[in-house]
Amino acid sequence: MVQIGVYGLGGISRRVIQGVLFSRNANLYAVCSSSIEKADAFKEEYGAEKAYDNYEKMLKDTNIDMIYICTPNYLHAKHIQLALANHKHVVCEKPMCVSSEELHACFDYAHQQNCFLMEAHKTVFTPLNQKLFEMISNEEIGEIKSIDAQYATKLTETISDWHFNQPGSGCMFDIGVYPICYANRMANSSILKVSRFQDEALIEYENGCVAHIATSWDVDMENTAHIYGTKGSVTCKNFWKNTELVMNDKKIVVEQKSDFTGEIEHACTCIESGLIESPIMSRNASLEILKVIGV
Ligand SMILES: NC(=O)c1ccc[n+]([C@@H]2O[C@H](COP(=O)([O-])OP(=O)(O)OC[C@H]3O[C@@H](n4cnc5c(N)ncnc54)[C@H](OP(=O)(O)O)[C@@H]3O)[C@@H](O)[C@H]2O)c1
Repeated sequence: MVQIGVYGLGGISRRVIQGVLFSRNANLYAVCSSSIEKADAFKEEYGAEKAYDNYEKMLKDTNIDMIYICTPNYLHAKHIQLALANHKHVVCEKPMCVSSEELHACFDYAHQQNCFLMEAHKTVFTPLNQKLFEMISNEEIGEIKSIDAQYATKLTETISDWHFNQPGSGCMFDIGVYPICYANRMANSSILKVSRFQDEALIEYENGCVAHIATSWDVDMENTAHIYGTKGSVTCKNFWKNTELVMNDKKIVVEQKSDFTGEIEHACTCIESGLIESPIMSRNASLEILKVIGV
């Protein structure tokens, strides 16, 4: 069992914790917030063993194996390096870094510290998308030629200021990364060229596949992924969290307790196997996402 400390108890942390609670190889050991009231309330609600109100103090806890970082994008690199300095394995929420320079510095330091580091892209690890990747690899829809995926949401509720005024802000970093990581995974090839048009991009892959990705905070979109192969196609609405899709007119359905469990189980399996980088969500996979954003 990998002992987890959750770093930052903001908007996404409850869903991350649900993901940990359903994981077969992770234990929610500690939660940490700048407020002890909040940390204590989370500890009680989710059955963590420890509640901290000081991030550096939690990082000194030798019972913790892995830190899951849920802080604002522009602080990720700083928080990753603090965790690594304390010899903790790290999974960090997307986008893990706001530039490729920052990303290299984090992975170089993780190697130096002999610690595992991974960007949290649940989209790549949902049960449905793991199954889809396997089916695509088995050429069930032939050679993949084209991918079209969007994620847009009109901003109707207040979101934290850092989404607008800090490095790593804007909808491409916030939700554009979902269609990007999905397209990169399903194309299963390195990027040859990116043509970016505002919040949309055309991605050409070395294997000849082309992807169109789009995101927005201003308009509603279909929020659906279409994958076209030489022997058929796939359609999946809300592809970053869904449990069903249609492949060649046939419905495929999987079970899922939390959309975060797949990525957490994968990271813990890597840690238990002594890996310091995921073979799937690797440094290179994170760099390919930043390549599309253009940073
Ligand atoms: N995978 C997904 O589906 C998904 C969905 C939404 C967001 N995310 C990602 O999760 C991360 C957090 O997003 P969120 O919506 O949870 O953000 P948020 O509501 O603004 O929460 C961020 C938390 O970070 C902690 N923090 C630590 N140091 C901080 C500082 N100096 N300034 C501000 N906050 C600090 C705070 O926790 P305390 O108050 O407890 O100290 C704060 O509540 C982002 O990287 C975001 O992209 C992922």
